[in-house]
Amino acid sequence: MENRAAELARLIEKKNFVKIVTHIDADGITAGSIASVVLERKGIPHKVEFLKQLDIAAIERLKGEGNPLVWFTDLGSGMLEHLSGLECVICDHHVPSVRTGRKPPSLKREQITDILAFSEAYTSNTTDDDRLQPLQLNPHSFGRDGSYDMSGAGAAYLVGKAMSPDNRDLAALAIVGAVGDIQAARERRVTGTNREILKDGIDAGVLNALTDICFFGRETRPVYKLLQYSSDIILPGLSNHEGNSVAFIEKLGIEQKDGEKWLSWTQFTLDDRRKIVSELAKLLIEKGFGHDAALKLIGEVYELPQEKENTELRDAKEFSTLLNSCGRYKNAYVGYRVCVGDRGEYLDKALGLLRGHRQTLVNCLKTVKESGLVIREKLQYFDGGDRIPESVVGIVANMVLSQNEVDSSIPVFGFTNSEDDGMIKVSARGTQVLVSKGLKLNEVMNITAEKFGGIGGGHNIAAGATIPEKNKEEFLNAAETLIAKQLLKNG
Ligand code: C5P
Ligand code: C5P
Ligand code: ZN
Repeated sequence: MENRAAELARLIEKKNFVKIVTHIDADGITAGSIASVVLERKGIPHKVEFLKQLDIAAIERLKGEGNPLVWFTDLGSGMLEHLSGLECVICDHHVPSVRTGRKPPSLKREQITDILAFSEAYTSNTTDDDRLQPLQLNPHSFGRDGSYDMSGAGAAYLVGKAMSPDNRDLAALAIVGAVGDIQAARERRVTGTNREILKDGIDAGVLNALTDICFFGRETRPVYKLLQYSSDIILPGLSNHEGNSVAFIEKLGIEQKDGEKWLSWTQFTLDDRRKIVSELAKLLIEKGFGHDAALKLIGEVYELPQEKENTELRDAKEFSTLLNSCGRYKNAYVGYRVCVGDRGEYLDKALGLLRGHRQTLVNCLKTVKESGLVIREKLQYFDGGDRIPESVVGIVANMVLSQNEVDSSIPVFGFTNSEDDGMIKVSARGTQVLVSKGLKLNEVMNITAEKFGGIGGGHNIAAGATIPEKNKEEFLNAAETLIAKQLLKNG
């Protein structure tokens, strides 16, 4: 991957203008920011554009712009076969997918059983003059799983590092991107290439890795809220109970306030933090959740030591949420300005958007509660109608899946109206256990959406699609059949 990154770097460096095109989420914003900073440092003029999704219309528009080079980050690999004729490079981690009926010359349709194999064959068989394959850095092409090994920001970082070792300070943004894509959740720490990037960041003095409670909000939220809103791990009696959460800490004799101000986790003494973790572990074990649940309380957390203490930028998880709050509400540019260093006007704007994001999620969960989940044999779904913005329906699906009362042995689909006329957006979320049993939501979304006039893709554990509304029922049936087949094949 380093060699590939160096090839991309050499190609990019030759250009006198680069158009960066990136995704709107935390990983996309950090990826685009890394690309922008490394070009800035090289003195190469550039522009950044943020896209919700790279579709054919966007590609056609980019072709018309006549840029000397387009640098795709956190997207692109899903649209390989549409990129011929566009001078571009790709830093991505999504599963390369093929959406059209076109097939590589030496492969027969019936030989194509696996999308990834198809894409690789496609890439290696493109001899037609008009189909110059773009240079691509994607962990999937190197036998690695792009859901965990490295994010779009990580791929952009490797290219930056290949341009100059001085760019190692950008490792902090790369880790924020990876954490934003939930790449650290499986092993409760980053692994693979992300781990190498982390080491760079620690060496450069821009990252610390600590073992600590892995709840959201360590730097900025009152501690009882960490317990109250712990959606990854259910804390019996505390999750969703504000009063109980406050009392739990009080009973341990810990002062939670400094005057009128609630203290955050990082403002508690180490002793008090240990006391809370061990009491939480005791609670989980006593209530029969077992040692496994107790172990999940702690994990590796990532701190950005050059950012101010007790701010959203100091903790990678909080930083990534701040960026999602921008990108998912059509303000990716605000997040980008924060990433490239603004700590004034744009940071203030981002913090305002974060407050809005929190409120939106509360409202969306209420909507799901009211409308309910439709439970089918191999999947369950909710329909947000026009009450859940399409840009957050995936986050909501994830939150629903981790709720106490929701059965996590089948995936959750969330539907909502799309901004595109007559279309609906669907987000699908699964669990690690389901993935180990063969679930590949990226294939479900890619193949099924394609079949019913839509477009979809993503990762095995988390994927999305946009489809015509009139095909919703057929889409659900076909998706369910495919999920059943995937799970059956792997026992
Ligand atoms: O487009 P992108 O790859 O950046 O998006 C990744 C998405 O996958 C995130 O929205 C995240 O919520 C989801 N994800 C997840 N569980 C994982 C890994 C990723 O829900 N274990
Ligand atoms: O939109 P959502 O959060 O559900 O996306 C989950 C994952 O699926 C992301 O990685 C996203 O980039 C990908 N996706 C895709 N094509 C779509 C929709 C989502 O590749 N049409
Ligand atoms: Zn990503």
